[in-house]
Amino acid sequence: MKILVTGGTGYIGSHTVVALQQQGFEVVIVDNLSNSQADIAYQIEKITGQQPLLEVFDLADREKTADFFKRHSDIKGVIHFAAFKAVGESVEKPVYYYRNNLVSLMNILESMQENNVQNIVFSSSCTVYGQPDELPVSEMAPIKKAESPYGNTKQISEEILQDFIKVSNVHAIALRYFNPIGAHESALIGELPLGVPNNLVPFITQTAIGIREQLKVFGDDYPTPDGTPIRDYIHVVDLAKAHVVAVRRMIENKMKQNLEVFNLGTGKGYSVLEVIKAFEKVSGTKLNYKIVARREGDVTQVWADSSFSNDELGWKAEKGLDEMVASAWKWEQAYRSR
Ligand code: UD1
Repeated sequence: MKILVTGGTGYIGSHTVVALQQQGFEVVIVDNLSNSQADIAYQIEKITGQQPLLEVFDLADREKTADFFKRHSDIKGVIHFAAFKAVGESVEKPVYYYRNNLVSLMNILESMQENNVQNIVFSSSCTVYGQPDELPVSEMAPIKKAESPYGNTKQISEEILQDFIKVSNVHAIALRYFNPIGAHESALIGELPLGVPNNLVPFITQTAIGIREQLKVFGDDYPTPDGTPIRDYIHVVDLAKAHVVAVRRMIENKMKQNLEVFNLGTGKGYSVLEVIKAFEKVSGTKLNYKIVARREGDVTQVWADSSFSNDELGWKAEKGLDEMVASAWKWEQAYRSR
């Protein structure tokens, strides 16, 4: 069973490639390496014993995408991770984000139809809910106006899928990720942000290892118990496993609708200060941080109602916060001592 993983050398992509191979799938990666490195394919091989085939090109290139699908028409499913994801950068460069994230999806969908590839799993985000009116937030919650072009590309992509499944024999599962953190237990793959990290956990581990001087905590005046925002952090390995379940569901014709949407979270929220405390505990280090002003666009709190994905997919996130931050720390240390 051959699966195309776009963005398969990236953070979530690489962990998903490992999970797929471990479940007996053959994986082909397409990645333009804009935010990752080709040697991830070797790291994956060290974990699974199999090196995934890696083709390096940009899926926003229609001809190259069409050519790829012609050469791999035996693909049974696509997991589409390849996208830009930096919220702040998307505000600076909106067209760059829209072109990359939307054109690549459209090229893939056209090529899928032309080659009768029927199944696509799409990386969506809890960002589509904005600040939900009710918590935990379920898949039925209304979509709020996107805070950033990045968030908007996720909303528009879901709409493109919605329209496309009506007029093609393509089926789609959109997985709305909450906050993926952590790394594979081998510490051979993990999150590798280019430049200064935007996200909390890589900033914490880089500060602890001495690359960054100090973590800025963006605001402690939110209406939450300790004043810092609350998120549903989920271990990337748990997240990766959900993709394998989703692909199986599609291939085995178990879908109940031609587009299904699932939340991928743990159902439990933690504040920024709680994440810092967990990190300090498992790493035995004291983190240098200070409270600064709020970051624009941050919501106060969001965590998932994961009951639908638990019941319908038969999948459940298993790893807790300590394990998540411990694995992120192990990865940071292993990577820096390479
Ligand atoms: C962000 C995006 C989300 C995207 C995800 C993946 C926003 C509003 N949301 O999620 O759409 O899918 O990244 O890239 O940007 N924090 C600090 N100091 C830091 C970094 C973060 O205090 O240096 C805090 C933030 O204020 C937030 C929490 O940590 O409360 C988590 O932040 P982050 O890891 O960036 O994720 P989100 O903002 O939730």
